[in-house]
Amino acid sequence: MSQLAPVRAGIIGTGTISDVYFRAAQSFEVLDIVACADLFPDRARAKADEHGIAKAYSTDELLADPEIELVINLTIPKAHAEVGLAALRAGKHVYSEKPLALTRENGRALLALARDTGLLVGCAPDTFLGGGLQTCRKLIDDGVIGEPIGATAFMMSHGHESWHSDPAFYYDFGGGPMFDMGPYYLTALTSLIGPMRRVTGSARITFPERTITSQPRFGTTVKVHVPTHVAAVIDFHTGAVGTILTTFDVWESRLPYMEVYGTEGSMSVPNPNTFGGPVLVRGAQDTEWREVPLTHPYIGESRGLGVADMAYAVRTGRPYRATGELAYHVLDTMVAFHDASDQSRHIELQSTCDRPAPLPTGLAEGSLDS
Ligand SMILES: NC(=O)c1ccc[n+]([C@@H]2O[C@H](COP(=O)([O-])OP(=O)(O)OC[C@H]3O[C@@H](n4cnc5c(N)ncnc54)[C@H](O)[C@@H]3O)[C@@H](O)[C@H]2O)c1
Repeated sequence: MSQLAPVRAGIIGTGTISDVYFRAAQSFEVLDIVACADLFPDRARAKADEHGIAKAYSTDELLADPEIELVINLTIPKAHAEVGLAALRAGKHVYSEKPLALTRENGRALLALARDTGLLVGCAPDTFLGGGLQTCRKLIDDGVIGEPIGATAFMMSHGHESWHSDPAFYYDFGGGPMFDMGPYYLTALTSLIGPMRRVTGSARITFPERTITSQPRFGTTVKVHVPTHVAAVIDFHTGAVGTILTTFDVWESRLPYMEVYGTEGSMSVPNPNTFGGPVLVRGAQDTEWREVPLTHPYIGESRGLGVADMAYAVRTGRPYRATGELAYHVLDTMVAFHDASDQSRHIELQSTCDRPAPLPTGLAEGSLDS
């Protein structure tokens, strides 16, 4: 398929998740990672050596390299907007890890600059392009559960301080369970049902301090600056009503990850932070749930699918799926949940986006509809 010249990309932020992206580029001929950069030069050098990348740069050097057409921004969330804007100013397309930005202002600035410069902005998550969530999408589009009338989404946990080496940022501005995990759930819901119209919600801080029990900061306490239990209701443009709960305050739960309810049946949706199944449906006349064989590839760790899809858009001008507009709609919604709680009201969303196009069936792993 790929007669196209690969899009030459550079990674900024060579931390934990970068390995997955370095590897993804080897699966997609349309993407060629030629350089990487980090605030800490040693980290960039080490990853460049590990993955056979010639150029280990500072961020400024990477942005000044005319060979690089696209920046993959894998920095920490509070640096996403600044690095993304710098990439666009340097004339590069940019694909960011989630969330797009921490504020609506910064999210809008990214979209505006992209529009003005004619460059593309894309953003994770891309799990909605995985085999599990694409199978769900096809079942809905094929009418298997009828018209969706509602959905539930649950991310239940007691936070990350028992295992993460440096968990303080989860409890600071831009952290919390909704900003950390909400993008997976809200992006999946937008792909399955469509854009959201208005929301309301309630949020609280249950534990004002957290004690780290992981190494190397065992015993250190962290102040909690953001709500850690966020419950919200979503009205979709279609009329469907969604319920979402994300929490770092709950010790145990037996709730599912996600379910979508239709006029003709119900669907059990897999964990939207993963690419695979299982997908189950139960029709109005069925006596039990049945597992549906997945109709699409990409069921293992496939982060990078979204940027590969965007790379085709760079080369051919065709639409892509993990767009900045979709990520901004998700950001706007997450901010609105918190605003609604503070202001005790419903909030009409000012943003919207296109429902991302489904992937076709019958794709071979490593290929997309170019
Ligand atoms: N770790 C995961 O499993 C995972 C999974 C999915 C998504 N993500 C997302 O990926 C992003 C990165 O996460 P991570 O776990 O790799 O974090 P990390 O802390 O391991 O790595 C981030 C890297 O970015 C660098 N960096 C920070 N600010 C920078 C700046 N202004 N300029 C250049 N470099 C900068 C840091 O030095 C660090 O090496 C986050 O947005 C996170 O939400 C992570």
